[in-house]
Amino acid sequence: MALKKLVAGNWKMHGMSGDIAEIEAIARTARDYPQVDVALCVPAILIERAARAVDLPIGGQDVHFAEQGAHTGCISAKMLRDAGAKLTIVGHSERRDAQRESDEEVKAKAEAALACGLDVILCIGESLAVREAGSAVEIVCAQLAASLPRQADPNRLAIAYEPIWAIGTGKIPTMAEIAEMHAALRRQLQEAYGADGADVRILYGGSVKASNASEIFAVPDVDGALVGGASLKQADFIPIVAAAA
Ligand code: G3P
Repeated sequence: MALKKLVAGNWKMHGMSGDIAEIEAIARTARDYPQVDVALCVPAILIERAARAVDLPIGGQDVHFAEQGAHTGCISAKMLRDAGAKLTIVGHSERRDAQRESDEEVKAKAEAALACGLDVILCIGESLAVREAGSAVEIVCAQLAASLPRQADPNRLAIAYEPIWAIGTGKIPTMAEIAEMHAALRRQLQEAYGADGADVRILYGGSVKASNASEIFAVPDVDGALVGGASLKQADFIPIVAAAA
């Protein structure tokens, strides 16, 4: 049976207090699509205000694996929860790259977030060099194996396959390439979690927009999307949600 699709927005480092009105507009219109789970991962400083303003699940974009302590500039899962977050992204390629996050660290973050009651969107994806070398499936599956939390309620964990070269570039893999990758990830999830692996949603991310969303959502084992640029405005984001309905 097809899983309920999840369309999550990742606002990255975009959004000021004046943008709460846009979040409200997104939440209002998302209500027209109860057959789709919709969430928005906003900058940490907006979480509390956004969570108070709307009934849409609001998430963080990263979390520390420790509960508290001497980690200047970091935010724990407990703090995200306290601010009203329901979920968090971990392992986004922009953090794996700029903050040198390892698979082990991403796994620890996912486990800390799940243990604290946050749902998790765990990101993986290959570079252009890896794609061109023909080893994308092998490398991304290895990344998943090393980043996956030891155990997880399948309803609270989603995997986001985001080819790095497709992020913010307007380029996307072919539908056959997406199908091949998602099928391999599904097999791997089933190896790790047994029957539960069939229920973990696998999202696609990277240049998703209204014009390509339907085609992407029709690919087997694509259970939703993690959307960057096109999640910032209700007028761009909600048509993607509609395509998932
Ligand atoms: O996390 C979502 C993201 O990396 C994709 O960004 O702007 O290509 O949709 P974008």
